[in-house]
Amino acid sequence: MAASSRLLLIPLLLFFSGVFSFPLDQKKTDTTTCGYQSCHSTKADMLNVHLVPHTHDDVGWLKTVDQYFYGDRNNIQHAGVQYILDSVVDQLLKNPDRRFIYVETAFFYRWWKQQSSSMQQTVTQLVNEGRLEFVNGGWCMSDEATTHYSAVIDQMTEGLRFLNETFGVCGRPRVAWHIDPFGHAREHASIFAQMGYDGLFLGRLDYQDRSRRMKEKEQELLWRASDSLTPPMADLFTGILPNGYNPPEGFCWDQLCTDAPIRDDPDLEDYNVEDVVLRFLHAANSQALVYKTNHIIMTMGSDFQYENANLWYKNLDKLIRYVNAQQTNGSNVNVLYSTPSCYLQELHRANLTWPLKEDDFFPYADNAHDFWTGYFTSRPALKRYERISNSNLQTCNQLEVLGGPTSRKGHFGKGDSQTLRRAMAVAQHHDAVSGTEKQHVANDYARKLANGWQHCQVLVSNSLASLSGSSAERTYCDSLNISVCPLTESSKKFSVSVYNPLAQTVTWPVRLPVNRTAFRVTDAKGRSVDSQVVPVSRATQGVRRNRGFAMNELVFQVQAPPLGYSMYSVSVVQDQPPPSPPEHSVPTEIQNKYLKATFDPDTGLLSSLSNLETKQTIKLSQNFYWYNASDGNNKESGQPSGAYIFRPNSSTPNIISKTATVESFQTSVVQEVRQWFAPWVSQVVRLYADSKALELEWTVGPLPISDEQGKEVITRLDTNIQTSQFFYTDSNGREVLQRKKDFRPTWQLKQTEPIAGNYYPINSRAFIKDDVDQLTVVTDRSQGGSSIQNGSLEIMLHRRLLHDDYRGVGEPLDEASEIFPEGLVVRGRLLLSLDRPASAADTHRPLAQEVVFQPLLTFTDGELTPNTQLEFSGLQAALPPAVHLLTFSQWDDESVLLRLEHQFQSWESKLYSHPVTVNLKKLFSTLDVLGVSELNLSANQWKDEMKRFDWTPQKEETPTLKKFEDPSVWEVTLRPMEIRTFLLRVDRR
Ligand SMILES: *[C@@H]1O[C@H](CO)[C@@H](O)[C@H](O)[C@H]1NC(C)=O
Ligand SMILES: *[C@@H]1O[C@H](CO)[C@@H](O)[C@H](O)[C@H]1NC(C)=O
Ligand SMILES: [Zn+2]
Repeated sequence: MAASSRLLLIPLLLFFSGVFSFPLDQKKTDTTTCGYQSCHSTKADMLNVHLVPHTHDDVGWLKTVDQYFYGDRNNIQHAGVQYILDSVVDQLLKNPDRRFIYVETAFFYRWWKQQSSSMQQTVTQLVNEGRLEFVNGGWCMSDEATTHYSAVIDQMTEGLRFLNETFGVCGRPRVAWHIDPFGHAREHASIFAQMGYDGLFLGRLDYQDRSRRMKEKEQELLWRASDSLTPPMADLFTGILPNGYNPPEGFCWDQLCTDAPIRDDPDLEDYNVEDVVLRFLHAANSQALVYKTNHIIMTMGSDFQYENANLWYKNLDKLIRYVNAQQTNGSNVNVLYSTPSCYLQELHRANLTWPLKEDDFFPYADNAHDFWTGYFTSRPALKRYERISNSNLQTCNQLEVLGGPTSRKGHFGKGDSQTLRRAMAVAQHHDAVSGTEKQHVANDYARKLANGWQHCQVLVSNSLASLSGSSAERTYCDSLNISVCPLTESSKKFSVSVYNPLAQTVTWPVRLPVNRTAFRVTDAKGRSVDSQVVPVSRATQGVRRNRGFAMNELVFQVQAPPLGYSMYSVSVVQDQPPPSPPEHSVPTEIQNKYLKATFDPDTGLLSSLSNLETKQTIKLSQNFYWYNASDGNNKESGQPSGAYIFRPNSSTPNIISKTATVESFQTSVVQEVRQWFAPWVSQVVRLYADSKALELEWTVGPLPISDEQGKEVITRLDTNIQTSQFFYTDSNGREVLQRKKDFRPTWQLKQTEPIAGNYYPINSRAFIKDDVDQLTVVTDRSQGGSSIQNGSLEIMLHRRLLHDDYRGVGEPLDEASEIFPEGLVVRGRLLLSLDRPASAADTHRPLAQEVVFQPLLTFTDGELTPNTQLEFSGLQAALPPAVHLLTFSQWDDESVLLRLEHQFQSWESKLYSHPVTVNLKKLFSTLDVLGVSELNLSANQWKDEMKRFDWTPQKEETPTLKKFEDPSVWEVTLRPMEIRTFLLRVDRR
């Protein structure tokens, strides 16, 4: 701690107060006094207690988002957001001193739409006067462990856009408010900083971390959230709230609470004013001991509170009056209605230095055996569906722009991207993609995504019809992962359009269910494409059940141009003999021009992996195991494993089978080794001819529970890489963080759960490395993982549990469905690459983006009409490899939102970790760019108007603030990890 911060604050504040306070009575001529100007004045020589009335409204959890809005199903949980907003507005009008903050725009939007214009005016006035203030303001309060940055940025943009368009500047939140997410990602902080927030408040962090921070008064800090962006671009002031997000004990006055109201008529029974005041002064003074300034914050509210806001406000009015009345008796406690931004402003005025944090807040434990690391994997099918939906949404957005107005209203009817955008925004909530909701709510999230995709399909069909000049009907086959697609199964001639949402050309394997045995495949230029027919595997037949009957799969590789499509024609040729049956012996190896994998002939397991270009080889064995979930009958703690919590009852996982039964195919397009471990675990190890990654396609489930043991299934890769306890995981799909077993960078960890306490979220990749070898695993959804032994990396794939874990959801995580009544089967892919550490990012960065923003296949039956345009790219040329086109979507009739991203960290690539310049004028093939304005990351403020509080870290190494200038208005330079957001005015050529 720097010496200056030890100075007593009182004299400092006295000195500054004259300069900086904004007395309320100085009426400004401007009628709008929202934001920092609307804060109540404070007293520089007293302890100021900022009371923040608030409600925490989950965008779905025990009830669906719409059930919560209406207050339906109150038998499950008493909660109705429409009544909360009705009641709060009513109560705010009764006393201009009162304040309220609102957070989740998904709910506010639903409510606003239903209000009369006079009510809308009233609310606008409250917002303009800072009496009702929006904080956070995204569509929801996103989960931080299992979300991808692309979807987080989108959901924030959606909510903040509504607020800006409805309320203008006064609707722009100054503070990020993530009071409930179960651990905090560094990338989220970086994103918030780039969205212009002045600070972030959170409620949950590891209990050991908290107790150290309380002792050292480090609950308020400066988070440096990027190792690549120049400070203070990704610096975010972060405050840890004192009681999670609840009021101090004894002061909960909601109808959901049971604390005594303030009884202030001395003529009546149980007069308690003195008691309340004394208890409050005690609570305030003890809280002040663990914070640095003479300002403290109290969150007066909790889950779905304020449905009858009169209860809260009536008591808070009295609390303020009676506590402040004691000032005449020498009390130095000053209580006021406040908001997080008003509190933040006081911290900023204190002009202190703050401890600097550069790691993240994972994993989160609230007790010795209570690590919230299970939800990193919970509901793996929903997690994958959410990820595919994001990919589909990006494609839908892009095709809405490229296809022009006819994409929304065209040959196939009316389509839109908004339904899917809002469904995706809801799915980012911290009880949605996290997997911590009740089963019926999980079903509702999936249903919303499916409905959104229906709307997008019409748009995509319209757009592709307009771009290709062919209005042949388009079929979508969303079940290709289980080899189901009625059109390809029966058609003798069809075409496949491959739309690529990336700004670089991709090569992609296509596998289509078919019943014939020989096909001719031609590309857009009429050239013949190598294709092969292989039999559908036993595992695939098992998982698709009676949803499809194809015997074979047609496999070929396609190439799709940047931001465009390519059409391939497929026609049956004279049937050949059926594909040769699989080899039943273990092959010694499979190999293409980049990679070679070998197998152990005795076990059928992988035994090594080589990169043939760099001439490196590692020992690699891989197998499947399950942790026996704790049922809570345990002398150390009664905590069972559940939707949130991972708690194995032993540190040694059970092996599912030491050996695999093996079948293999080696063709010119693909080589695969199909491994069968148990009726509920199988895998295909696959290498396509042009792939730089080895694919492991796992199929896990239904997890057997007849032995009454909950199971948490992992796959583990064991290598001879010398990892010295280090491993690496990504943060929300962007920057990679170093992890170390049984270690936290910012405090002395007492490890109490040797497995669960070492788990971290993996959103898109994890790796292990030493000086010469790096093994990277790219995942297709968010999962939990760890490295428990040196050289080893494990990833949790699926969980099935028999007990609730006492965090409120009230159900064991035991997924089943109509098709899988005996338990869910989940299938996914891991992509393995082996590289030199200094160049590994050159492979895994593009690889991960191809998995996240995957090509969309659509099908048309029969012959294509002549003059169909078989190939199209929306770009004049592919963007440089370092640049990812993150957003390309229609903003309004004239303009388009564009986000360009540098996708490399500053240290990770000799080739690509350099600034790169893109010319916006020369970007698009069918659009003229007429004008450009730069925005903040969330597109709710012009970049040149974005001003944030500056904060001084304790260890200031004074970053050299180089002023970067673009070469010209049209040529924009991106530095490592930078995302730049533009509104383009465009004209169609
Ligand atoms: C903040 O404190 C520093 C010294 O610690 C001082 O130089 C600076 O002027 C102060 N800023 C304000 C706005 O008072
Ligand atoms: C915010 O909304 C206003 C209308 O309320 C609009 O004029 C302005 O362009 C919007 N700002 C941004 C940055 O989009
Ligand atoms: Zn919540």
